[in-house]
Amino acid sequence: MANLPTILTPRLRLRAWREGDLPRLAELAGAPEVYRFTLRIPRPYTIEHARQFMHVQREAWAKGEGLILAIARRDGDEVMGTVGLEINRAMDRAELGFWVGVEHWNRGYATEAAGAMLGYGFGNLGLNRIFAGHFAGNEASARVQQKLGMKREGVLRQAFKKDGTYHDDVIYAILRGEFEPGVEWTIQSE
Ligand SMILES: CC(C)(COP(=O)(O)OP(=O)(O)OC[C@H]1O[C@@H](n2cnc3c(N)ncnc32)[C@H](O)[C@@H]1OP(=O)(O)O)[C@@H](O)C(=O)NCCC(=O)NCCS
Repeated sequence: MANLPTILTPRLRLRAWREGDLPRLAELAGAPEVYRFTLRIPRPYTIEHARQFMHVQREAWAKGEGLILAIARRDGDEVMGTVGLEINRAMDRAELGFWVGVEHWNRGYATEAAGAMLGYGFGNLGLNRIFAGHFAGNEASARVQQKLGMKREGVLRQAFKKDGTYHDDVIYAILRGEFEPGVEWTIQSE
């Protein structure tokens, strides 16, 4: 099975989640502020959920269906969040997703990590379209997508149901021909 790639940006190392990260992953993903605007994060979030998440990401990469990586500090390797692409190979498109631990918000980490993922998706995975959907009202996510050069395409009304309440899904997307790299990144050799 091919290993997940490691991508370096000026401040970050995007790398596979590891066994030793799982307690921290459970802690960061378990925050109510992260749960609130995500669909696949269980609550409470246990270490077993974290382990399952790690295995699913490894399988997804092996099948060519996803590239989901930890966002770690380049200096020191502290894990801070996650970023990834869910790939639809037949359509050459992917869905971008990300979250960052609350204590690390508003320092540009999501934008830096997602910018590198867009570059990898268009440059290395040969994708043509990368989109992301967020809960209406999630202004931080909207801002990240705008900073990445993604365009707002529309709203899927009440497409999300979370804890019994429906929410609009706001869609942003970018095409390969529109992408202008905003962050320098390299692949770390093994
Ligand atoms: C969305 C999220 C990943 C952003 O992470 P981050 O590392 O803080 O993002 P960045 O620092 O790169 O950019 C955040 C931007 O949003 C802005 N922002 C933050 N809160 C905001 C708010 N309430 N209203 C408007 N803008 C806001 C910041 O000012 C910043 O923009 P700027 O650089 O122009 O000042 C983080 O808030 C998060 O994990 N939220 C919970 C999970 C989630 O929503 N994931 C996305 C699902 S689509």
